[in-house]
Amino acid sequence: MAIKKIAVLTSGGDAPGMNAAIRAVTRAALFKGVEVVGVYRGYVGLMSGDFVPMTMRSVSDIIQRGGTILYSARSHEFHTEEGMQKAIAQCRAHGIEGVVVLGGDGSFRGAQDLTRRGLPCVGLPCTIDNDISCCEHTIGYDTALNTAMEMIDKLRDTSMSHDRCSVVEVMGREAGYLALNVAVAVGAISVLVPEIQHDFQRDVIDRIRAAALTGKKHFIVLVAEGVGGVLEMAPQIEKATGFETRATILGHVQRGGSPSVYDRVLASRMGHYAVELLLAGQSNRVVTVQNDRLMDFDIEEALRMKKPFDEHLFRVAQELSM
Ligand code: F6P
Repeated sequence: MAIKKIAVLTSGGDAPGMNAAIRAVTRAALFKGVEVVGVYRGYVGLMSGDFVPMTMRSVSDIIQRGGTILYSARSHEFHTEEGMQKAIAQCRAHGIEGVVVLGGDGSFRGAQDLTRRGLPCVGLPCTIDNDISCCEHTIGYDTALNTAMEMIDKLRDTSMSHDRCSVVEVMGREAGYLALNVAVAVGAISVLVPEIQHDFQRDVIDRIRAAALTGKKHFIVLVAEGVGGVLEMAPQIEKATGFETRATILGHVQRGGSPSVYDRVLASRMGHYAVELLLAGQSNRVVTVQNDRLMDFDIEEALRMKKPFDEHLFRVAQELSM
């Protein structure tokens, strides 16, 4: 039996491009004659039946907006059997036959649990951390890279004027993809990521001292959130190198803002693809992109995959910034 009504929700940390994906899911489904409801605040709204009918016009003027018009949340209750049954009951009562879940790993676990209980789900990878193993680029990552780069370019201006060192923390609790790529883009003298063990003396202090001997007078040290400690590092760098040092934590500014071209196009393609999967009777799938080709994986398989850290790019970062 053909699906007549689907839901779309955003869950976990928001990411620029989520709105473009909501628009794509909504329009692709309506185009095919399938009704769509939006769910407010992710799984929290799914349990309480906080739904809104989506029309062609309810997704007008959102492709360029950061955040998510459906709001997002994290829910502990949803991950209990009782919570899940509440969500299933709400979907049955509202005639919802499939759900597109926009989020990261944790949100996909929820999607898998729902699918196993008879509600077909498809996940779209949305996170600025780019830490979904089966996916080369997650929705939001490109925008966050550019936001962080622009902010650090501004820091560089002031560091240069004062012959200072800036030690900057970018987001990424468990993953250093954002930190590494931004480090290359801004020419950081050192980058510390959770995937690679570091030695503070060798990887930060000695690198600054060696560059200073060649005449360099201002420095960016980039630290992933998962390594942390920039407030403590700043005085240590100042004391050991003699360069005045300031710490900056970029924080949630990286999660906001208008999505880049890349994220808008990726979100549009993935949202369209997710609807086609659901309507073709597929479920428990994550949509991904590899070599610019969209494909999909079983959620369980996707969650088991490991994303290799780009050690070659790490070496490039080290060899080019001195
Ligand atoms: O998953 C994205 C992310 O931005 C991480 O890098 C960060 O640690 C986390 O979300 C912070 O989330 P929140 O402050 O919303 O709990």
